[in-house]
Amino acid sequence: MIDHILISEEAIASRLSVLAREIDAAYEGREIRAVGVLKGSVFFLTDLLKRLTSPVSVDFIQVRSYAGTQSSGNIQLVHDLSMDIEGQDVLLCEDVIDTGLTLRRILELLSSRRPRSLKIAALLKKQLPENAGLKADFLGFTIGPEFVIGYGLDLNERYRNLPHVAVWNPKS
Ligand code: IMP
Ligand code: MG
Repeated sequence: MIDHILISEEAIASRLSVLAREIDAAYEGREIRAVGVLKGSVFFLTDLLKRLTSPVSVDFIQVRSYAGTQSSGNIQLVHDLSMDIEGQDVLLCEDVIDTGLTLRRILELLSSRRPRSLKIAALLKKQLPENAGLKADFLGFTIGPEFVIGYGLDLNERYRNLPHVAVWNPKS
């Protein structure tokens, strides 16, 4: 069951406004090709992009890596981008960096297509030794190792529409 709210709707909104200003400053008016990792990043991506003044185009990629609350370690490409990214300034938008495996694989795939630049915006990063080498260029919040739901994050496809991020307690 849901244990407690970890990050409120208001805290997310104000953090995204700060991130948007950082992103606008970093791209200096160049067009951003935002790439959302389906499905978890959708809420984060739309709320973030609405706050940008930079010109933006949007695309999506979907991979499969998880069953229940455990990483399977296996990444499968479910849905590829609809547009070419060669020469584009790509901003990859991810809900959470857990082991970092998913993001590493997606970064490998996208960088092989020769974008002009490739940066990462992540709503959450879990503080874990496994992902220590993987740095998000724009990060919302650092959290503990617990499993979280809401604001795009699911447990077997449920709870994505919660307006906040909450901790899931498997024992209660
Ligand atoms: P990673 O490959 O271990 O970094 O996991 C990345 C993906 O697993 C994320 O994009 C999420 O879809 C999912 N995931 C990891 N941790 C959580 C969590 O705490 N709640 C919900 N989904 C998660
Ligand atoms: Mg998921």
